Amino acid sequence: MGVTGGIAAYKAAEICRRLVDAGAIVSPVMTTAARRFLGEATLSALASEPVRTKLWGSAEPIPHTLLGQRADLVVVAPATARILGVYAAGISSDLLSATLLATRAPVLMCPAMHTEMWENPAVADNVATLTRRGVRFVGPGVGRLAGGDLGAGRMAEPDEIVRAAARLLGASSCLEGLSAVVTAGGTREPIDPVRYVGNRSSGRQGYAIAAELAARGAAVRLITTVASTLEAPRGVDTVEVETALEMLAAVEAELGLGVGSAPGGTDLLVMTAAVADFRPARPAGEKMKKAQGIPALELVANPDILARVGAAFKRGGPGGSPTGPVLVGFAAETVRPGGPALVDLARGKLEAKGADLIVANDVSLPSVGFGHATNAVVIVDRAGRVAEVPLSSKEAVAAAVVDAAQALLAERGRLCGRPDRDFPRDFAPPRKKDN
Ligand SMILES: Cc1cc2nc3c(=O)[nH]c(=O)nc-3n(C[C@H](O)[C@H](O)[C@H](O)COP(=O)(O)O)c2cc1C
Repeated sequence: MGVTGGIAAYKAAEICRRLVDAGAIVSPVMTTAARRFLGEATLSALASEPVRTKLWGSAEPIPHTLLGQRADLVVVAPATARILGVYAAGISSDLLSATLLATRAPVLMCPAMHTEMWENPAVADNVATLTRRGVRFVGPGVGRLAGGDLGAGRMAEPDEIVRAAARLLGASSCLEGLSAVVTAGGTREPIDPVRYVGNRSSGRQGYAIAAELAARGAAVRLITTVASTLEAPRGVDTVEVETALEMLAAVEAELGLGVGSAPGGTDLLVMTAAVADFRPARPAGEKMKKAQGIPALELVANPDILARVGAAFKRGGPGGSPTGPVLVGFAAETVRPGGPALVDLARGKLEAKGADLIVANDVSLPSVGFGHATNAVVIVDRAGRVAEVPLSSKEAVAAAVVDAAQALLAERGRLCGRPDRDFPRDFAPPRKKDN
């Protein structure tokens, strides 16, 4: 466990204690700056081993390789802008940065910093680089920061960090052997060769779900409209599409529903994409000229991909059919005061689409959904279960969505490993490698 120099270092003691309580063997590494915020003695007393701070002059001849090689997981909480930067740049300048470069274990970063720092393009680039290399992030969330400011940059709560650690330690292969299809991005419906009808979807939530599924061992095919702007998560295959009709064809081909397509072996379909409900009836073959006047656009309805798939697997009735993939749909709603609640809108969609899970968000709220790095959702299933995820990173929402889908896969006997990933009951002490 790496601890770096931010105010949130005081929470590292709680995270360490919870990890130890759950059975982990925790070896803390504190940076020089971290020791200004948290007493070494506190962390040493709570951890399984004394705190290490130095690359030079330690009891072990090569401390960073010892720590890096025997780790099953490296958690950095809090992670400063500096540690993200040196790790992304491959610089080893202290015990923690050297350990990060010397490990092949999964790495979980828990950033904490002021909003201005978190949103700085240099920091954002470092996070993107590390994410592309397979480093996992939990948080930061939006909330009260040191000094009384309010905004993005607050470290994820200890509970969320320990759950993420448990997932990486104990469940990294729980979806192994399963196949998932995820759709992401907003469709673009051409008006003419240069203009289109579109929406504000960035695709980030779908990409986070694809990354989470791949991290848990699933074979993931990502059908995306934003392949040119977002880099595919590690281990995920992409299929690039643009329009709703192309997305429908790609989904049906993956699921074995298309004309002449092979029977699909997909276990899970997550329809995160914002599919346009309408498209121009007759897109022009050439660019429309201003001189021709303002065109009257006639729109026609696009197919409802999730409803088509739901109907194909005949799960319209109560209880649904246990055959075919687990179907997860997303619903972007704008909840009106006095109107139906988000959870009721979600339940309505569950029935209308024949889905197994609906993940709904209220996109009229600040920082929620389209175009934001954060989201807040309710997840409903056909058995009447409801999970609420308050405003969190899209990665945290992805973990909750995959948890819910995994529970349904387990109920259908599709999981080869342990179906029950409840925490901390299921959190076995990590096996130490001989070194
Ligand atoms: C009072 C104070 C609070 C700080 N809080 C943070 C923080 O929350 N996040 C951050 O990235 N840097 C923060 N810094 C800056 C880091 O401490 C500084 O960049 C330091 O070099 C980080 O070193 P380390 O990554 O080796 O721990 C803070 C500095 C001070 C003086």
